[in-house]
Amino acid sequence: MQDISIEATLQQAIEQVRINIPRFGDQYPHNGDGKVYVLRDNDHWMTSFWVGELWLSYAISQDETFRREAERRLPSFEYRLTHRIHEDHDLGFLYTLSARAEWQLTHDPVARQLAITAADHLIERFHPKGEYIQAWGALNDPVEGGRMIVDCLMNLPLLFWASHETGDPKYAEIAAKHARTTRRYQVREGDTTYHTFFFNQDTGEPIGGKTAQGYADDSLWTRGQAWAIYGFALAAEWMNDREMLDTSIRLAERFWAELSSDLVPLWDFRVPPDGPQKRDSSAGAITACGMFKLATLVSDSALAASFRERAEKLTLRLTEACFETAPDAQGLLRDSSYNVKNGNAVEQFMPFGDYYYLESLVTMAGKPIDFWGKASL
Ligand code: GLY
Repeated sequence: MQDISIEATLQQAIEQVRINIPRFGDQYPHNGDGKVYVLRDNDHWMTSFWVGELWLSYAISQDETFRREAERRLPSFEYRLTHRIHEDHDLGFLYTLSARAEWQLTHDPVARQLAITAADHLIERFHPKGEYIQAWGALNDPVEGGRMIVDCLMNLPLLFWASHETGDPKYAEIAAKHARTTRRYQVREGDTTYHTFFFNQDTGEPIGGKTAQGYADDSLWTRGQAWAIYGFALAAEWMNDREMLDTSIRLAERFWAELSSDLVPLWDFRVPPDGPQKRDSSAGAITACGMFKLATLVSDSALAASFRERAEKLTLRLTEACFETAPDAQGLLRDSSYNVKNGNAVEQFMPFGDYYYLESLVTMAGKPIDFWGKASL
């Protein structure tokens, strides 16, 4: 691997965020398209990743430009919550990186209240019979009402945080139930994960696993495994729960064992040789962040050091292979894939790839800013 300075890379990435501020205007990056992003209004699940990049950049640089740009977007998040625009389980992603991050860094009470209201909306999606949070669709949807998805583990930190903030245990209780249901039904023999799982929403009876973005129902969608590694690690931290921690460790070991020597993961670890051999660098970045978190949680010091070392290797390799430095390019991390199966944004910039790559740089540079767990509270 090349000799890479993480501090210099981090500063370069932050400068790229700065250059993007006027380019994005009042909109938000959605899918990457070559060197640029397709921009959209604040009406989809990915919009907070850009705001998260702004808050990370502010936390590192203390440059008010980033703070002003992030703060001026909060009313738009307030508007979409009031009007329930594109509301699904990704309220967690949306309001952790916008409202909670703002509260954490500026102590703005409006941001705090917005994050709590988002948590109130999120718990409406809980199905008590199956003990899961419904991922997609309207609450009365006859099909989607029965579906949970593994990505939702990353939405739970908003609920744990809301209980921590308000003293009301109801949010954390639902988050813990959902995490346990995910562990029970979505983690398979061999430490792999289903992307999505269905229940009979009337009785709560489990039906079975199904993919949405993976190669097949029983394949191993790489980003789903990455969400699970980081999500279970965060659940372990908030719940102080050994089972959650063990699960995250096992899934992380499986992920690492599946990687080729290239270290930039393919989009699905079970794609056959004659299937599309496309990368999903975002899964590498999310896993790096998950492994950095695991390194802070495991008590065995050799294992902790090993997770830290592997997270660093992933971050360095992503820097070498995928970090974009062209001045006219709008993303940080090349080769993320949104949905290879339907050809939607394959090997492009994606806002979540950029965000988690930046978070991994920040952590590796020794300045961890934790918007998900308890460490920064
Ligand atoms: N949470 C949706 C995705 O990872 O594509």
